[in-house]
Amino acid sequence: MFEIEKKVIEEAQQGKPTLLTTEIPAGAKRLYLESYGCQMNFSDSEIVASIMRENGYYTTHNLYESDVIMLNTCAIRENAEQKVRKRLTEFRKLKKSKPSLIVGVLGCMAERLKEKFLEEEKLVDIVVGPDAYRSLPELVGEVQGGQKAMNVLLSLEETYADISPVRLGGNGITAFISIMRGCDNMCSFCVVPFTRGRERSRNPETILQEAKELLASGYKEVTLLGQNVDSYLWYGGGAKKEFKNLTEEEKSTAVNFAQLLEMVAEVDKDLRIRYTTSNPRDMTNEVLEVMAKYENICKYIHLPIQSGNSAVLERMNRGYNRKEYLDRIAAIKRIMPDCAISTDIICGFCGETDEEHEDTKSLMWQVEFDYAYMFNYSERPKTLAERKYTDDIPEALKTKRLEEVIAIQRKLSLESNKKDVGKTFKVLVEGTSKRNENELFGRNSQNKVIVFPKENFKKGDYAMVKVHDCNSATLLGNAIVE
Ligand code: 5AD
Ligand code: SF4
Repeated sequence: MFEIEKKVIEEAQQGKPTLLTTEIPAGAKRLYLESYGCQMNFSDSEIVASIMRENGYYTTHNLYESDVIMLNTCAIRENAEQKVRKRLTEFRKLKKSKPSLIVGVLGCMAERLKEKFLEEEKLVDIVVGPDAYRSLPELVGEVQGGQKAMNVLLSLEETYADISPVRLGGNGITAFISIMRGCDNMCSFCVVPFTRGRERSRNPETILQEAKELLASGYKEVTLLGQNVDSYLWYGGGAKKEFKNLTEEEKSTAVNFAQLLEMVAEVDKDLRIRYTTSNPRDMTNEVLEVMAKYENICKYIHLPIQSGNSAVLERMNRGYNRKEYLDRIAAIKRIMPDCAISTDIICGFCGETDEEHEDTKSLMWQVEFDYAYMFNYSERPKTLAERKYTDDIPEALKTKRLEEVIAIQRKLSLESNKKDVGKTFKVLVEGTSKRNENELFGRNSQNKVIVFPKENFKKGDYAMVKVHDCNSATLLGNAIVE
């Protein structure tokens, strides 16, 4: 899930924020839209672009020619918020030289800080939370009338199901489809339930429709997005209910995640399906069996562990312990021996002892994750952990632990890649390699990036590629040409 976040961070560090852009007709109003955070946020930006397009705004990558700037923000860790603040200071300068410029803050940080943004960050004109994007054109109008404007209402129903996203900044081959919104899990460290509200699932018909439209316009891969896809349940709309609490009538037409996955896989055998994020507490064998049954459902699962110690998991309110997580891993490996697994790990959560940290390290060795996203714990206002526990691990110790887990993961990723040398994979070509224009890159089902000489292949093709070498990040191969 956080590959994009990583990319954004890297690019932001190089002073190159990720830009979202489309072609603009002459004379159209221009929207500069910048997106931080998870894939869900990028997917939301495509909805925002669509809503604004309906109202005459076209996205531009040229900040200086824009009429409206919108920053879609992330609140997951303190450093994500710092980046946004820094960017807003830059916009402040721009606004001084162009007073008609409208600056809006969208997304999770907007939801978290609400009116504080209008009060403290003086040059922000609009504040809009993740469930209020339909009101954006109206709010822009209010600002043009001389007011500040805000809508941070969260909803039990909003899924933007009827909005056809404007695909931004992508490669034309892979796209996101949002299948649900919000989160009801209440992990003690996490701000998402406060910024994205209650969990609700999107009508499967509209998901299928979106997949078919993508296929018809040349896309070859869709990633189904949700904070906790395993608890997807469509029974007619509205806030999440457990299956057992549905009426008999609702039960007879309900669609769970395994069924949704199967429906999307049936759209076309050449349309690849990925999804994220799974939750160890809710992941069923039914989902694993559907994955195993369809070649076009990618054999890759992102299953965040957060900590390898059961007491820490309890404090995190994750709803599973070490053994239960390992049981889920065993089920994945039994049902799909070739499935790659990645995870998220938090270092230095409240009260984490050296022994508890060692348990995370031993679990990593035991599971042999193919990839991991690793973070220092960052206390977030309003969360259960902030209210109940002390953020008592010194920053230096958090970082030391983080460095240890990063070092382990680097070895595990390299080992995992070495095991692939000599194997042949079906690769969906996503584009030309950045390093060498005579080489292409793409991913195999396991989500590993493979680079190979281009021969006669092009973006969007499937190529059978035999791997001859690797490093910890990439596989190198040659296409098998008949
Ligand atoms: N501090 C550090 N990492 C966090 N994550 C979520 N909240 C926090 C936090 N407060 C991480 C978790 C989650 C991923 C999306 O971000 O590992 O799985
Ligand atoms: Fe995504 Fe969470 Fe960041 Fe919101 S806070 S953008 S849901 S990662």
